[in-house]
Amino acid sequence: MPSGTSSCFIFGDSFQLYPMQNRLSARWIPSFLATILTTSLVYAQQTVIPIETEQNALVLQTDASKRLGISYFGTRLQQPGEYALVGRESRQKDENSGISNSAYTPSGSWNLFEPAIRVTHADGNTSLELQYQSHQTQKVDENVTLTTVLLKDPAYAVEVSLYYKTYRRENVVEQWSTIRNKEKGTLTLNKYASANLYFTGQSFHLTHYHGGWAHEMNPETTELKAGILTLDSKLGTRANLFQPPSFMLSFDEIATEETGKVLLGTLGWSGNFRIDFENDTYNNLRLIAGINPHASEYPLASGQEFQTPSFIYTFSDHGKGEASRNLHRWARKYRILDGEGSRLTLLNNWEATYFDFDEQKLTGLFADGKKLGVDLFLLDDGWFGNKYPRNGDNAGLGDWKENVKKLPHGIGYLVKEAQKAGVKFGIWIEPEMVNPKSELYEKHPDWVIKQPERPEHYFRNQLVLDLSNPKVQDFVFGVLDDLFTKNPDLAFIKWDCNAVIYNAHSEYLKNSKQADSRLYVDYVKGLYKVLERVRAKYPKVPMMLCSGGGGRVDYEALKYFTEFWPSDNTDPLERVFMQWEYSYFFPTIAHCDHVTDWGKQPLKFRTDVAMMGKLGYDIVVSKLDEKELEFSKQSVETYKKISDLVWHGDLYRLANPRENDYASLQFVNEKKSRSVWFTYMVSSRYGVGTGRSVLLKGLDPAKKYAIKELNLYPGTKSAITSDAVYTGDYLMRVGFNPVANGNRTSVIIELTEVN
Ligand code: DGJ
Repeated sequence: MPSGTSSCFIFGDSFQLYPMQNRLSARWIPSFLATILTTSLVYAQQTVIPIETEQNALVLQTDASKRLGISYFGTRLQQPGEYALVGRESRQKDENSGISNSAYTPSGSWNLFEPAIRVTHADGNTSLELQYQSHQTQKVDENVTLTTVLLKDPAYAVEVSLYYKTYRRENVVEQWSTIRNKEKGTLTLNKYASANLYFTGQSFHLTHYHGGWAHEMNPETTELKAGILTLDSKLGTRANLFQPPSFMLSFDEIATEETGKVLLGTLGWSGNFRIDFENDTYNNLRLIAGINPHASEYPLASGQEFQTPSFIYTFSDHGKGEASRNLHRWARKYRILDGEGSRLTLLNNWEATYFDFDEQKLTGLFADGKKLGVDLFLLDDGWFGNKYPRNGDNAGLGDWKENVKKLPHGIGYLVKEAQKAGVKFGIWIEPEMVNPKSELYEKHPDWVIKQPERPEHYFRNQLVLDLSNPKVQDFVFGVLDDLFTKNPDLAFIKWDCNAVIYNAHSEYLKNSKQADSRLYVDYVKGLYKVLERVRAKYPKVPMMLCSGGGGRVDYEALKYFTEFWPSDNTDPLERVFMQWEYSYFFPTIAHCDHVTDWGKQPLKFRTDVAMMGKLGYDIVVSKLDEKELEFSKQSVETYKKISDLVWHGDLYRLANPRENDYASLQFVNEKKSRSVWFTYMVSSRYGVGTGRSVLLKGLDPAKKYAIKELNLYPGTKSAITSDAVYTGDYLMRVGFNPVANGNRTSVIIELTEVN
């Protein structure tokens, strides 16, 4: 809608202050507000664009110079007409230092803050100014609306479109931008963020995460004071090793599960990212999120456009619990592949055999999988390579032909044998990578990312294939296509990605503009091209997203995957904490949580922890004693009965393991007629236990619930009387003691509505 036209206010549409004045003041604006409005009308003719969900609003507003700013972010106002007044209540711009509330902050003109975009024009000029041109609001369906705002530089032929896709019921916004080069020559993008937001508040508290291999998702909360705090990574093939692109931002005070204003945000990009939080001179907060511009100047030829990845966020003024449930609903419905479907339980051989297996051993494991009752057997690393057999992690990667010594009859035979045993068959691949000791490396050294003038530097003895090269894309697609063509019954893929990019140089790109600095971006784009092709041909087969653990857990990659591997650390005590943190951003249907031999906890604890996600096993079944096997079989059966709640229910966190001696959390179905409740001791101090009741959440106060303990270890009795019935009101106000303690370190309880 061009500036100066139209007027009527409907959901997601804009209005101009002049035309609105009569309409508003006549109907409901109290006289004192009308005065303010009149003042603002004299001030300038402005376009106001409210972008709303059921609960929230982000309001964009132009100033007299047609610059687009953010005037409001938070819970939506009851009277949308009042959005136009908000900007005047707090200082958001300073003619000397810049537009700190800019909706997409340019660089090189008069802004002095961190920019969202920085370019070098074809003539070498580095200035950019962006002015509002028009916007449109398109209703994609009854829940989804896309608002597009067009900005243009008045002096140079550069355009930026800002996209805001709202998911009304889920209160989620997906935001990205497109930069268009209409100049005659090549425009260089020096920085090109996805989203630029602006928040007002008393104070801001950022919870972000740090860690390393097998040590993912350790939270840290910092009050954001003057200056810039940056979350970023420069790993090339994945977003996370030390720091993921997911965070929580609390406004005014640190949000709890039930209270406080909080934004959960995450970037959908499987490569280098950068998220800046900058306090401006008025103690308002600027957020800029996108691809990391580090070593990534990107050339845009005349007539081309560049689309940035999505920044995804939700906001709640009722705490982290509600915010995360919103994100889960969105992710299940709109993002994760088959997010509302079901998942396969599995037995994986990685920790049971590592590289040491043959056909006989594997067929034995198929039988073990069947005995356990799982749906699928997953063959991990080590099945390929002949000239350089994959008997360790130093050889064979890239040579995707069955090792004839280990598997003389090939994968097809294994698929059939597994089926005969009564389980499906899945397989591990890491198709983006190569060991220098491989036939692939010998044949195609030019496909490998490395600096010709420098010694090779390895991560887990391997190098990364150059996915910017279409031939490499064909090769990677071919690895999967070949497996599926030869084995149409292949039921599952675990796609791993262990190495990061060192010595970023592409032989393929070397003659193009900004050759090496476009590699980081083109690598990830190349990966998505391959995944698109895989999903076009094999739309349904479940795939696990693994990156030496949780390196690649992001919402762009999860478009193509049904689940992810959160960490190689499967110590159940550590997993309680890790799974807890992941659960804020990613729904549990996508968490692959396996029972392994890591840690010192009893089998029941290990199993109960894995049951709060997508249950799998990575143990030697034949080593289980009679009771352990009986318990494990029973666990798989129990899991099948509760998996609907774990996969599709609403998650309520009851007791945070960082603040208590135990963790407690609960899944409730939509009808509030069933719930499953997990409690895990995280302290082994003498005499420690739940001690008192835990307040349940998410139930219907008027409904009555029967309480039953599940998954008892054979020969043990429940400490809970099974015939008791309680109202939801009672359980949420008085609570219930799950009686977790040193003897009962984990407790699973089912609540079922009784009439
Ligand atoms: C790293 C993964 O995270 C493990 O689960 C396993 O698949 C190994 N790679 C295999 O090399």
